[in-house]
Amino acid sequence: MLTLGIESSCDETSVAVINDQFQILSNVIISQIEIHQTFGGVVPEIAARNHIENILPVLDEALRKANVTINQIDQIAATTEPGLPGAVMVGRVFGKSLANALNLPFFAVNHLHGHMASLRLSNSNLQPPMLCLLVSGGHTILYRVNEKWEIQTLCTTADDAVGEAFDKVARVLGLAYPGGPKISQHADMKLPFTPIMNKFPKNTFSYSGLKTAVLNYINHEKQKGNVINLPEICANFQYCAVVQLLNKTREYLQQTGIKTLGICGGVSANQYLREQFNNMCQELGVQLYLPTPELCGDNAAMIAAAALLGIK
Ligand code: KG4
Ligand code: ZN
Repeated sequence: MLTLGIESSCDETSVAVINDQFQILSNVIISQIEIHQTFGGVVPEIAARNHIENILPVLDEALRKANVTINQIDQIAATTEPGLPGAVMVGRVFGKSLANALNLPFFAVNHLHGHMASLRLSNSNLQPPMLCLLVSGGHTILYRVNEKWEIQTLCTTADDAVGEAFDKVARVLGLAYPGGPKISQHADMKLPFTPIMNKFPKNTFSYSGLKTAVLNYINHEKQKGNVINLPEICANFQYCAVVQLLNKTREYLQQTGIKTLGICGGVSANQYLREQFNNMCQELGVQLYLPTPELCGDNAAMIAAAALLGIK
């Protein structure tokens, strides 16, 4: 049985074909990063227009790479929420119309469930119950997932998402969008530094205070005529961003006694985050699952996989 997945919620147009063994036959992604870089972030209207132009060629390429025709597809899944309204609508309407025309079942998939399903695509032995930390440009959520892939939110952000904080701090430092990878490239974690922020709110994630603390620090240094030490400020911010995720996740792992942890979403590509969580999980005897690097960011294979898993 073949599932066609469609993703267009932000700045990636993607179509994928996976089989019922969660094997990826194709996962074609056209990124609009270069288009939006000029503006320092994603421009919703431009994103939607580009999805309209890209969606058919991406579908053709996905079928060609999977070596199948559209008539061999058994079901269609598309991201229907959350996302930039105009952008997400392109994939949703396209997928529904295609399913209608071909008389196939259509699955409306929540983008965040898609990120969660990227863990199953990357690890065939993954079996909930687990805790799942979703870290992306728009969300920072710790979920509890039961054996039927039913989810419950344990903790979310009171303000900004962690990826958003990476992008905003990067912008002030003059680094190109998306800022997450750039900050991690520049950060020198071996440098000594005093954490720019060491108190975080209880029972919630929060990134707005950290972002402001870094921006204030940069402005003060500039006013004093000091040169910004880029490797140090990137390291300091990255440390504070990750330590908050670590501490809260540790609390919930200990509280629930759950011995499996998944981390997904764009920020899960961060090398420092991966190392720190690896160390913590080893210490706690927790099995850690991460997506392969190419499945951390937005892609359609994870949308097809979420439909197949029936995440609710
Ligand atoms: O999941 P994603 O591709 O899109 C959303 O659903 O938001 O996540 C994008 C976010 C961006 O904020 C980007 O800066 C961040 O993931 N990101 C990273 C890294 N790679 C991508 N953040 C930190 N370190 C990275 N290596
Ligand atoms: Zn995403």
